[in-house]
Amino acid sequence: EKGTYPHYMLKEIDEQPFVIRNIIKQYQDANGQLKLDQNIRSAVKEADRIYIVACGTSYHAGLVGKQFLEGIASVPVEVHIASEFVYNMPLLSQKPLFVFISQSGETADSRAVLVEVKRLGHKALTITNVPGSTLSREADHTLNLYAGPEIAVASTKAYTAQIAVLAILAVDTARAKGITLDFDPLQELAIVANAMEALTDQKENIERIAREYLSVTRNCFFIGRAVDFYVGMEGALKLKEISYIQAEGFAGGELKHGTIALIEDGTPVIALATQSHVNLSIRGNVKEVAARGADVCVISTEVTKEEGDRIVLPEVHEYLTPLVSVVPLQLLAYYAALHRDCDVDKPRNLAKSVTVE
Ligand code: F6R
Repeated sequence: EKGTYPHYMLKEIDEQPFVIRNIIKQYQDANGQLKLDQNIRSAVKEADRIYIVACGTSYHAGLVGKQFLEGIASVPVEVHIASEFVYNMPLLSQKPLFVFISQSGETADSRAVLVEVKRLGHKALTITNVPGSTLSREADHTLNLYAGPEIAVASTKAYTAQIAVLAILAVDTARAKGITLDFDPLQELAIVANAMEALTDQKENIERIAREYLSVTRNCFFIGRAVDFYVGMEGALKLKEISYIQAEGFAGGELKHGTIALIEDGTPVIALATQSHVNLSIRGNVKEVAARGADVCVISTEVTKEEGDRIVLPEVHEYLTPLVSVVPLQLLAYYAALHRDCDVDKPRNLAKSVTVE
């Protein structure tokens, strides 16, 4: 039930800190240590390469997950769109593990890949919000998201739950491989939950920004580098699906290779600048688009902030910034849709669970 909330989407955005805390609880043992199913641990440890397969928002979570698994656990990862993978399978490694990410566990495009992968005799793990779902039953292993039912068509809390569970999977894999880490993942996730709460408490500010940048525009660009690029793609998808504003996420450095031609006076550009190792270069891109008339809204962190940034995120572990940087993007999409009189929870042409290929 949505209770006092006008829309499920807003309720589900607000639930994210609780979902993260629930995930911490579900994935810890009696001593507060991270615990994962032994069979899953072995399956990931034995794999020489992980193939993440998903669609839409879940695909975007997979892109962030690749950073975790490669950066924290040193496992090579490829991330694929399910509908492409079926017809265009890459040359597989010797011992692949397939990881399906799906909120519903019913997405036909992903299932088609799972059926093919099983036919080839490979192992599969499904990360899903619905434990008894088709993708969960047909895979060898399942990791649950524990996000509670997601009703709004635009996925929000499932995305952050997927990223949190992927972080847990990466840390457990690192430990299984004897890699020592200088952070406690569950503690870092608890810090994330508090940071998310601080952001969902800033709705007035974010609503104002949505009105200013998005109430009349026909298009909007999201730019970022490194993991911010992936979060920008998710921000663009959220905006597209519920406000019908044409939106795209771009890698900051790629703009000059074509897309910058689209920037004109008043084009809104949402720039994510949360990663200190690329802060200088994304700031360069901000200047380039601003010089061509773009209205730039910069989202940064306490560490990367500069004067004039519109949203400054509370500090969290650098790996985990997508969990907090996506929250203002979800809220911007929500308020943009609201101001444009769109049906937030049930956007046109879309279904919650896509069961056709
Ligand atoms: C976006 C959205 C879709 C889904 C996609 C995959 O907000 O909801 O892009 O993410 O259809 O769905 P699942 O995760 O259920 O496989």
